[in-house]
Amino acid sequence: METKNIGLRNIEVADTKVSSIDGLNGKLIYRGYDILDLVKKSTFEETACMLLNEDLPTKDVLSNFSDRLVASREIHEGIEAGLRNFPKNANPMDVLQSSVAQLATYDNEKSEDRNANYRRAISLISKIPIIVAYWDRIRKGKELVKPSKKLGHAENFLYMLTGSEPDKEFSRIFDICLILHAEHSFNASTFAAREVSSTRAHMYAAVSAAIGALSGELHGGANFKVMQMLLEIKSEDKVESWIKERLSQDKKIMGMGHAVYKTFDPRAEVLRELSKRLSEKTSQPWYNITKKIEDLTAEEMKKIKGSDIFPNVDLYSASAYYMLGIQPDLNTPIFAISRVAGWTAHIIEEKFAEAAPKPMLYRPKAVYVGKYCGPSGCEYIPLEKRQ
Ligand SMILES: CC(C)(COP(=O)(O)OP(=O)(O)OC[C@H]1O[C@@H](n2cnc3c(N)ncnc32)[C@H](O)[C@@H]1OP(=O)(O)O)[C@@H](O)C(=O)NCCC(=O)NCCS
Repeated sequence: METKNIGLRNIEVADTKVSSIDGLNGKLIYRGYDILDLVKKSTFEETACMLLNEDLPTKDVLSNFSDRLVASREIHEGIEAGLRNFPKNANPMDVLQSSVAQLATYDNEKSEDRNANYRRAISLISKIPIIVAYWDRIRKGKELVKPSKKLGHAENFLYMLTGSEPDKEFSRIFDICLILHAEHSFNASTFAAREVSSTRAHMYAAVSAAIGALSGELHGGANFKVMQMLLEIKSEDKVESWIKERLSQDKKIMGMGHAVYKTFDPRAEVLRELSKRLSEKTSQPWYNITKKIEDLTAEEMKKIKGSDIFPNVDLYSASAYYMLGIQPDLNTPIFAISRVAGWTAHIIEEKFAEAAPKPMLYRPKAVYVGKYCGPSGCEYIPLEKRQ
């Protein structure tokens, strides 16, 4: 017998009302609303509020949510001290994962009810950007920039990172990036969050597990790898040889391909436009180089494997963040800044789903293909007699 469901592709393990993906037609819907509509009309705050409250909020619900988000814009001095203790060359994702786990130790509310989890979700959405920005300034030996209570979520992050209020157009572009990354159904990190929640572990444990899953280069870590690739290629005329050489060694091109989308990832289309806009505004070459990578990879993959390949969310977000002045190793933490909205919505769904089939402890099965000596097991040979 051999394992049938490696990677759990196409295996349905739960019902969800949070979002849906149509991988054949390139559609992504949050709580019933198309993300292409949300990026035009919504803000990250409203999108996060909708993800957690199951529908577009009324004015009062949104205003209460936004006020609570701003009120949570602070971190305990113990977390700040923890940040100062990490080695300055620590990976920002490791720092974030540890600090989120540490947040649990400062949460004195013992309740596990829905309200307590809703409060934790707001607090995590608010605190993760502070941790990321503080860490960046600490590792660079800069003074911390305390969060502003007057700015929007996206604007405040850029402000804490740079120390000055960002350009309005840059802030809106960053806000759109946050909307686009906020939720994506049962991707690896969300599944990790739900799996941990299914054991009845608390929200901080589930979110820190999700951050660990996000850090890998086949998932959120790809946006950092894309920027490394762009910086290595540097100019349009080098793209062709770089891509051909990499594919000839059977290596992957980061930011291309997707486990679910078999057509254009709708997020990539929006991000492509944003990268183009930023390249024009900042006179940087990254959009043109990225576009050439997209086209050449598609062309070469067609020749080599006879299959189509499309850009995913990470291909154009990498250059967009770079042109917003963000250091590349913060690309994946920024993914977490946004995706925490989706993770926490899923955690709440996992913990409090009311309709059948209710979630239960995840416990998949593996096919054992190891040593076998019969139904009673192998004879235990004492250490001194083993060869
Ligand atoms: C995301 C990813 C893991 C999905 O992988 P997947 O589900 O195996 O995708 P597919 O089944 O469509 O792959 C079909 C073939 O294309 C290859 N392929 C997929 N993405 C590729 C890429 N980016 N570069 C080169 N080859 C790729 C696969 O290796 C596979 O080859 P094979 O048939 O010889 O085994 C994969 O596309 C990938 O590794 N992309 C790069 C990392 C990345 O950008 N991750 C972020 C995802 S949002």
